Amino acid sequence: MQPGETEAPIQGGKGLVALTGATGFIGGVLAEWLVRSGWRVRALVRSLPRARFLHPLGAELIQGDLADSEALHSLLVGVKAVVHCAGAVRGIDFADFARVNVAGTECIAALAARMDPPPLFVALSSLAAREPHLSPYAASKREGEAVLERFSDAMPVTILRPPAVYGPGDREMLPLLLLMMRGIAPVLGSPQARFSMLYVDDLSSAIERCLVAGDVGRGVLALHDGRVGGYTWDAVVEIATRVRGKPIRRLVVPRGLLNALAAISRRWGSLTGTPPMLTPGKVRELTHPDWVCDNTEASRALAWAPQVEFAEGLRRTLAHHRALKRSTRS
Ligand SMILES: NC(=O)c1ccc[n+]([C@@H]2O[C@H](COP(=O)([O-])OP(=O)(O)OC[C@H]3O[C@@H](n4cnc5c(N)ncnc54)[C@H](OP(=O)(O)O)[C@@H]3O)[C@@H](O)[C@H]2O)c1
Repeated sequence: MQPGETEAPIQGGKGLVALTGATGFIGGVLAEWLVRSGWRVRALVRSLPRARFLHPLGAELIQGDLADSEALHSLLVGVKAVVHCAGAVRGIDFADFARVNVAGTECIAALAARMDPPPLFVALSSLAAREPHLSPYAASKREGEAVLERFSDAMPVTILRPPAVYGPGDREMLPLLLLMMRGIAPVLGSPQARFSMLYVDDLSSAIERCLVAGDVGRGVLALHDGRVGGYTWDAVVEIATRVRGKPIRRLVVPRGLLNALAAISRRWGSLTGTPPMLTPGKVRELTHPDWVCDNTEASRALAWAPQVEFAEGLRRTLAHHRALKRSTRS
């Protein structure tokens, strides 16, 4: 269901939501989803030019980052709910991730908990938090959850753990999807590995359901696209083959090669000061054999049902990519 399809909310009539991470992949889609679902959005953004696309949505922009308590206060005053979507997804060591995912989360949660009345606080963690030993990113997301749990006496807190999220605007999974459409499917890690996935619109609808549901009690809710037991690489390739309409060749990428590429990328990141895409921790995440989750609790607590399985999500992502390419050419 598209937001507003069965109901016609008065524009902004559901209330004011403070959103972090709106200039990112998930936050950008979510901002639009929330506005179309009848919420007013006030977004914390670090860069006003990057947030230009939020103007047509009527979103109010507060410039600042998660360490800026004045900006956070302006963000939070008078809001009904907070959706904390900002996060560091690239970095080299734990400190890189913890600055945002732990300390930044603590700053905004501490201020929100002191508001009168305190807002509902919905936070995007990650399924990676289930395996904190795998990488500094995973450890930081788990620690961020622990921080939030400390504030759950002072305000209602809902923590969501999405698996790999993809869709229009994503840059992490897109290269892999495009490669498959060229006929090559790199199989990263064990061919027997299983993983859940989630299309970004379904994540947005789950978050919106959180706002409507209010306090669903403590705990962490895992989300996936409705495919019980997740996907194997074989299943992904089979679906992509149908979408492509031509065969796709599997290319098993040995772990040793991934580790070598990660070492180079990490070194390059240290030298240039740019967060690397591939690190030894990312390789451990990518090659972990079990990223399957269970969304029964989330579906029950939020009265939420995902709509987009991988075949449809892939089609929509590719269509968006093609449209974007056409518009940048013209
Ligand atoms: N993508 C996935 O597959 C996935 C899966 C599970 C969970 N998640 C979680 O979902 C959240 C969003 O992920 P994403 O894929 O949308 O990442 P993204 O595209 O990298 O977006 C990250 C957002 O966080 C903002 N941000 C980073 N550091 C900040 C700081 N110090 N202060 C204020 N804002 C800051 C960024 O702002 P700038 O634009 O200024 O950099 C950007 O808006 C993250 O918490 C991530 O851990 C993602």
